[in-house]
Amino acid sequence: MLTVAAIFEMMQAYKTTSLLCTGIELGLFDCLAEGRIDATTTAEKLGLNARATGLLLNALAAIGLLESDGHTYALDMGAAEYLVRGKPQFMGNMARVIASRWEWEALRRLPEAVRRGGTVMTENAETPEYAYWEDFAANAPAIARPTAEKVAEILGPLMATRSKMNILDLACGHGLYGFTLARHLPRARVWSLDWPNVLVVAERHAAHMCVAERVSMIAGDMFQVPLGGPYDVVVIANVLHHFSEKRGTELLRRAAAVTTPQGIVVLVGFVVDDQPPALNPAPHLFSILMLVWTTEGQAHSAVAYRRMLAAAGYENPALHGVPSLPMQIITASRSYQDQLRL
Ligand SMILES: C[S@@+](CC[C@H](N)C(=O)[O-])C[C@H]1O[C@@H](n2cnc3c(N)ncnc32)[C@H](O)[C@@H]1O
Repeated sequence: MLTVAAIFEMMQAYKTTSLLCTGIELGLFDCLAEGRIDATTTAEKLGLNARATGLLLNALAAIGLLESDGHTYALDMGAAEYLVRGKPQFMGNMARVIASRWEWEALRRLPEAVRRGGTVMTENAETPEYAYWEDFAANAPAIARPTAEKVAEILGPLMATRSKMNILDLACGHGLYGFTLARHLPRARVWSLDWPNVLVVAERHAAHMCVAERVSMIAGDMFQVPLGGPYDVVVIANVLHHFSEKRGTELLRRAAAVTTPQGIVVLVGFVVDDQPPALNPAPHLFSILMLVWTTEGQAHSAVAYRRMLAAAGYENPALHGVPSLPMQIITASRSYQDQLRL
């Protein structure tokens, strides 16, 4: 049963987010990684106001990110592992993705979005060359990597039968889905499509993953730009939830038109299932982000995905879970009927 304490906690959750993001942005966790320290010295080292730094350090200790004897401060073990820049497990950059000011500003206008039935933001997730997607591409690889590896594992049997493979990564963002497949299949070539400002980031990742010489970039609107092809694999990861079923089908039709008769499409996204929302909350919470940030987007159900795929000419859809992550991978192949039409 809902308690008063739980309601107060929900009302104040944004303060915790602000504290965590401020600690990361000001480099407090990096500073404390050098050893136990008091507020005045911390403020001097970081060029901050001493009184304010004391208040912030106490609040960070209050929410369990620091340990304090009342005068000096040290990092909690988890903070030392995950919030210090340069540590292998550092995940502070993810704050720029999942606690971004863009999302926050859009979510503050949720009541208006519910009245209108879609975003009221003039700049939103569908805006061409939206700057948020540069941040996303730069900082999301840590969460994309396990899903990209899972896609490679699922496609393993198919890749084993091919000496060559052409892959299109539609709305590639960071590009990790295509690049990870390229790493698993040394003779694969990848075409990564996104807005030009985002492709600059993807190019950096391709070089870092040593696949750049097998990667080509397609810059522009995925609904308009010529897609090239044909491709053995088309990846559309975390994209269809930005759109209505109708628009998603339109994109899938474009993809199907450049998929080889033996080729497959790979979708990644949150999938709404038949369980009550409390048992699988992630897609329902994600739908709220799509509501405030897109015209008609939402997390789709498995049934809606099947409908979109069938209408676009793909068949045999199969759902695959991703260990420890709430999203799903959906694969489907080109349909026999579509092969006849070609
Ligand atoms: C949620 S990100 C997905 C990135 C990557 N596929 C992933 O799964 O992490 C959505 C991407 O779609 C791109 N995008 C959105 N609308 C687009 C359009 N009309 N044409 C090309 N890219 C688009 C954005 O720039 C962004 O990089």
